[in-house]
Amino acid sequence: EIPEPCTMILFGASGDLAARKLIPALFRLFQEGQLPAEFTVVGVSLSQLGNEGFRTRMRAAVERAHGAGGVDEAAWSVFARGLFYMSMDITSAWDYARLGELLGQVEAERRTRGNRLFYLSVSPTFFGDVVERLGEAGLSRSNAKGWSRIIVEKPFGTDLSSARELNTRIRRHFDEQRIYRMDHYLGKEMVQNLMVLRFANGIFEPLWNHRHIDHVQVTCAEPLGVEGRGRYYEQAGVVRDMIQNHAFQVLSLIAMEPPASLDPEAVRDEKVRVLESARPFTPERIHAECVRGQYGPGHIAGAPVCGYREEPGVSPTSGVETYAMLTMRFDNARWAGVPFYVRSGKRMKERVTEVVVQFKEGRGNLFGMEQRERLSANQLIIRIQPQESVTLRVAMKAPGRAVRVRDMDMSYFYSSMREGPPPEAYERLLLDSMLGVSTLYTREDMVDRAWELVMPVLDEWSKDGAAPNYAAGSWGPEAASRLLARHGHTWNEE
Ligand code: BG6
Repeated sequence: EIPEPCTMILFGASGDLAARKLIPALFRLFQEGQLPAEFTVVGVSLSQLGNEGFRTRMRAAVERAHGAGGVDEAAWSVFARGLFYMSMDITSAWDYARLGELLGQVEAERRTRGNRLFYLSVSPTFFGDVVERLGEAGLSRSNAKGWSRIIVEKPFGTDLSSARELNTRIRRHFDEQRIYRMDHYLGKEMVQNLMVLRFANGIFEPLWNHRHIDHVQVTCAEPLGVEGRGRYYEQAGVVRDMIQNHAFQVLSLIAMEPPASLDPEAVRDEKVRVLESARPFTPERIHAECVRGQYGPGHIAGAPVCGYREEPGVSPTSGVETYAMLTMRFDNARWAGVPFYVRSGKRMKERVTEVVVQFKEGRGNLFGMEQRERLSANQLIIRIQPQESVTLRVAMKAPGRAVRVRDMDMSYFYSSMREGPPPEAYERLLLDSMLGVSTLYTREDMVDRAWELVMPVLDEWSKDGAAPNYAAGSWGPEAASRLLARHGHTWNEE
């Protein structure tokens, strides 16, 4: 399905995200015939660029993202004709009037039928103001001349009250159906696959509960440090940067009840409902079931790297967490008694985002310990990235005369079905926003509930800062392994 013609008004057009992800994703869609010929971008930011300057810059960005061979010249020249640029001060009401005029001209020229998609890729401190100015200038209205939608990048607020305030401000000018809150994890192929795996197979759902599942691990680990974003990270920390959004999205897809249909609201209802049954964090639970950390100096791929406190833009006495592990519990009929260990960290040993569903030991296992070689109970391992795969770990007879039982992996590798890397998450998500499909975007109540859950943790941890307690290039603080060991569990780390 190809979306109707529209104009995307990209706030923050000279920024990093536009160059790294957005324009390359749009061009890829265009090149593959997924966008209408009329598709138009009006880039907006403070820099003085001009249409040609913007086009040149985006051409270089697309080449960086897709490689020189990945850019079809003919397609680029058509696409580039639809790129426009306006230098504006996003805090000035006057400039929004100018923007309105430019849009009128561009829409007439490009025949985009008045459909407008605003994309806020600016510093989150401006989100509320930009929306208000758009509203005041009459640009936020959907009408007979076309629809008007808004995509808001993360972070959506920095705590519960700022997220609520931002929602209220946006809702004054855009109703919920027209607000697309971006969480790029939802566009990842293997995250989309979670629903298929759970609900298109008959064999998992009957086992997907506390009777058969012992615990679940959700890991989002990165060897990257803060990559020149020290100043942002000092205000954020890992709970705001990764857990409240990306990790909770994955978690809710694993733990939710089957939705009544694939309708965006039906799916999002269930995701919120399961977070509603998550047990709140009390100071006792935070102390007993959560672990935080900050990386000190260490080695990544053999090369020495500095500790978090030595990173540019970071205070030498910073108490910000670069690692967190939260034990989530859902007090509902499906999950009573099953811990969900959710962790994320910077400067971890490997890049891995995965979900491990650890099943319980079967009853009446005939084979004694002495016959087993490294046998855990069954596991279902969903590797979201890299090397996207799904593995079911089962017991098999080891080859040979003796009867010995060992683990064997039955795996599906995404790369066996498709050459090259999976499509960028942004491609699917941008296309959905133009088609008016919001399933893979976050709804207001989900943002709210996710903040509500992490607030006590943020409050408790802000009382005294984190200190360096894991070496860069390790699997995080040892306390996290000890915590699991107390329950007889281990991280899936080999
Ligand atoms: C972003 C965070 O939202 O997600 C970054 O701000 C993080 O700190 C990134 O590195 C991870 O995304 P991905 O797609 O590389 O796993």
